[in-house]
Amino acid sequence: MKKILSMMAAALMMTACNGNKSHEPASDIDTSSIVTDIMMSRRSIRAYKDSVIPRETLNDILKCGINAPNGKNLQSYEIRVIDSPALIDSITAAVIKDYPEVAERKGFKNIFVNAPCVLCIAFDKNYDMAQIDCGLLGENIILSAWAKGIGSCCLGSSARWINDSPSAKPYLDRLAFSDGYELLYCIALGYPDETPEAKPRKEAIIRFVE
Ligand SMILES: Cc1cc2nc3c(=O)[nH]c(=O)nc-3n(C[C@H](O)[C@H](O)[C@H](O)COP(=O)(O)O)c2cc1C
Repeated sequence: MKKILSMMAAALMMTACNGNKSHEPASDIDTSSIVTDIMMSRRSIRAYKDSVIPRETLNDILKCGINAPNGKNLQSYEIRVIDSPALIDSITAAVIKDYPEVAERKGFKNIFVNAPCVLCIAFDKNYDMAQIDCGLLGENIILSAWAKGIGSCCLGSSARWINDSPSAKPYLDRLAFSDGYELLYCIALGYPDETPEAKPRKEAIIRFVE
């Protein structure tokens, strides 16, 4: 993705996330093609540079996340941000104590596809639409991050390992989700160190009905 496009898109997304009440583009920039480019160029990233994502940037991304549509505006999720390498390593060590096979993957560094930052997202088990809310939250986060040149990967496996590993229980407790909330998935974040090809999509799953 061209850097200039990324900067323009980031500026546009920031305007939107900062509560711009107008739906008019800020200028004569072709907003539609920028948003399309962001969506179509995003890929799941599983190799990251060590560079730290500034917390201010993370906060901007997370604000875009919680601006996503959500059922009855209940915002039926909780988010925990882990950007401490020591904590990521400790959680990893706990999980691989119970599931050593997880560390057998080539180039393994941590259970979050080696990312330097991870978001843990929990859903409210008492609201039947909460998992939809979490998905929409995550997509806003992922696209906002990508607009800033930050790669991501949705991770179901990491959440399963943390939930199921007895050794990781102290770390799950440390995330301190409210009663009735359960860790659903994680999102790895970091500056990409790979440029994967797009995986094919099944266009036949889309059908217009007359
Ligand atoms: C709910 C969900 C769970 C996922 N879990 C994992 C995972 O555990 N490990 C992983 O490497 N990728 C995971 N992914 C990423 C998918 O493999 C990826 O989105 C898919 O292969 C399409 O590739 P793309 O994102 O590059 O378009 C997950 C994605 C979603 C939406």
